Amino acid sequence: MAKLKPETENIRGQLERTQYREHSVPLFMTSSFTFQDAEQMAAMFAGDEEGDIYSRYANPNTDEFCRKMCRLEGAESGFPTSSGMAAIWASIAGILSKGEHLLASRAVFGSTHQILTQILPRFGIESDYVEPGKIEEWESHIRPNTKMILLETPSNPGLALIDLEQASQLAKKHGLILNVDNCFSTPVIQNPINYGVDLVTHSTTKYIDGQGRTLGGIVVGNAELIEKIVFFCRHTGPAMSPFNAWILSKSLETLHLRMEKHSSNALALAQYLEQHPSVSKVMYPHLPSHPQYELATSQMRLGGGIVSFFINGGIVQGRSFMNALEMCSLSANLGDSRTIATHPATSTHSKLSEDERADVGITDSLVRISVGLEHIDDIVEDIQNALSKAVRE
Ligand SMILES: Cc1ncc(COP(=O)(O)O)c(C=O)c1O
Repeated sequence: MAKLKPETENIRGQLERTQYREHSVPLFMTSSFTFQDAEQMAAMFAGDEEGDIYSRYANPNTDEFCRKMCRLEGAESGFPTSSGMAAIWASIAGILSKGEHLLASRAVFGSTHQILTQILPRFGIESDYVEPGKIEEWESHIRPNTKMILLETPSNPGLALIDLEQASQLAKKHGLILNVDNCFSTPVIQNPINYGVDLVTHSTTKYIDGQGRTLGGIVVGNAELIEKIVFFCRHTGPAMSPFNAWILSKSLETLHLRMEKHSSNALALAQYLEQHPSVSKVMYPHLPSHPQYELATSQMRLGGGIVSFFINGGIVQGRSFMNALEMCSLSANLGDSRTIATHPATSTHSKLSEDERADVGITDSLVRISVGLEHIDDIVEDIQNALSKAVRE
């Protein structure tokens, strides 16, 4: 057949059928693999013959998942990890050395912020933050020892975008590695590698799983860099479990469908909130009022499933809104089929100081909704009722 479309590849691009003629891929829940004889064992250890040795290195289920993700992102190779943070850590620690420096967008995920500010300095790696919306200022922060630029677009929870084309041009000009966390968009919505990005990380815990069951992550990208990351991961041990890879490969079969529905529900909710008198501001990339709407519609095929908004009032209204929700879940996760509400100031971003939160636009009245796959009328009704109760208090 001609080259299959990504949707079809996600469904059909599975492991070769075994002698049991199964239709659905089997789960290879095994820590190690056997060898026909000592010669084969020696050849595989020497890398002269291909084959699985030990599941910390590779496993048929993690390989299948990795191949599918690489195809989706247009990447040369990758390594699946035990969580999104393990992927981000490997993409930095597997590459950078003592004395080197990295630039990071100020609007990175909370645990990434902890890696940059609390962990890397212990290993002699320094970093500086740059403002996500002011790419023209980034160049002045590049030092002779700068090796990497790390960013997230759109950001969590402010949904600010970074122009990947411009970031990539800057990285190329200075010979820097560009490392992008693509967890919010998924490869269905944007493919950073198409813009020249070198490394792409995902928390597969989010939309890739899509039903809030597994923790996982992946780094994909340029083969030479991935080789270093594979070496780092094989010997430090953040491998993805075969069980999680098996679930995640199955999840990919519905990723396109789900992202379309998450995005259409999220756009409808954003439009509803925008005209609500108790909401002072709504952030959603594909809303014409988003300050980077043009960039959002050219860089992102769909608007994604996250809507953030400010309720009139402050901490009391933010909390009351959360408490008044009846259907939507209160949870720190996102990318689930169930709609989830989060109050970043008191949860995901509570480890940041008030000033640090203010720098990335997180105030006490900010609420983030990960819009699920329920009927949009039910989502809107729950949020409408909660807003009415919250503003009365
Ligand atoms: C943008 C982003 N990157 C990375 C992570 C970390 O992923 P994980 O929880 O799978 O380690 C998260 C969420 O937790 C996230 O929202």
